[in-house]
Amino acid sequence: MHIRSEIIGWGHYLPKKVVTNDDLAKIVDTNDEWISTRTGIKTRHLVEEELTSDLAYGAAKMAIEKAGISVDEIDSIVVATVTPDNTTPSLAAKVANKLNAKSGTVTYDISAACSGFVYGLTQADNMIRLGQIKTALVIGSESLSKIVDWTDRNTCVLFGDGAGAVVIRAKEGEGTSADTGILATKLYADAAHYESLKTTGGVASTKTAGFIFMDGKEVFKFAVNSLSQAAETVMQMGGISSKDVDWLIPHQANIRIISNVGEKLELPTEKVIVAVDHHGNTSAASIPLALSENIESGKIKKGDIIVMTAMGAGFTWGGALIRF
Ligand code: ACO
Repeated sequence: MHIRSEIIGWGHYLPKKVVTNDDLAKIVDTNDEWISTRTGIKTRHLVEEELTSDLAYGAAKMAIEKAGISVDEIDSIVVATVTPDNTTPSLAAKVANKLNAKSGTVTYDISAACSGFVYGLTQADNMIRLGQIKTALVIGSESLSKIVDWTDRNTCVLFGDGAGAVVIRAKEGEGTSADTGILATKLYADAAHYESLKTTGGVASTKTAGFIFMDGKEVFKFAVNSLSQAAETVMQMGGISSKDVDWLIPHQANIRIISNVGEKLELPTEKVIVAVDHHGNTSAASIPLALSENIESGKIKKGDIIVMTAMGAGFTWGGALIRF
């Protein structure tokens, strides 16, 4: 018997307010042409009154409804985020509180920036395969607009707010790539790049969250290589070649990074999911948001092979191979 974690529910939630590149050109020295050609971003959603927990709750509710389960069946809630409502308790605890989760539901946050969802999914999958839990809710939720310096054109045009979620549940498989569920995961980090992508503050250093700072060119180069490496590794681990892949869901940071990764993996553009054009970079939310939207649109179907690959501050990176 081989335990797999199967995705039985998916959800996403975006704040209502949509901000265009032309809107941004009114507050910083930029223009639609620069943002579109350098990043592929056209619009992004930004929070007004809502908190990161509201976005997470919206995505979680949809995922639980899609799964057709009751909240009481969830053993663990993990939220990947760098923009929690409170420093403590975790955002996962807040979501559990809003969902009225039963006493005993394990809750914790993952801080691995844009790789956070893949990190959280990997941990939850491992707990399921060890038999410690049966059902997990894994969420990526961010209000990046709260840690963006709205006077800095180098960064403020890149980010957006939103949330995505999945419910995964233990299911018996054969141990082959014909199984549905998570087939392989792999995580990496290299802290030598600690300074290259970070916030300028934090609880202990400045008592403020700080603003996002990055060495854009270094991040760009590293992202192309690490996203490709993680995708290749999980495909190899699962015995899947790129021609068998139905969908690549890369972290949505920049269309040029996404296209380069697709080319490196020799995947036709129509198999590469793009959401950065209407979400911007939503960090830990970007992959589950793109997944849920594309399941709902009917593009991603039951049985499809999906490769997720993410990279973010730390540097952290990682991938997941899934048969939906
Ligand atoms: N509007 C107009 N001009 C701008 C803007 C803007 N919003 N931002 C920067 N510029 C200017 C710069 O000031 C620079 O001007 P200069 O030559 O007079 O100094 C010029 O445009 C070119 O800037 P570059 O940094 O060379 O532009 P580049 O082609 O490298 O693109 C970008 C910058 C989009 C940030 C790119 O490096 C990138 O995408 N890097 C990846 C970073 C990323 O996505 N980070 C997100 C978090 S990490 C992650 O999610 C993986």
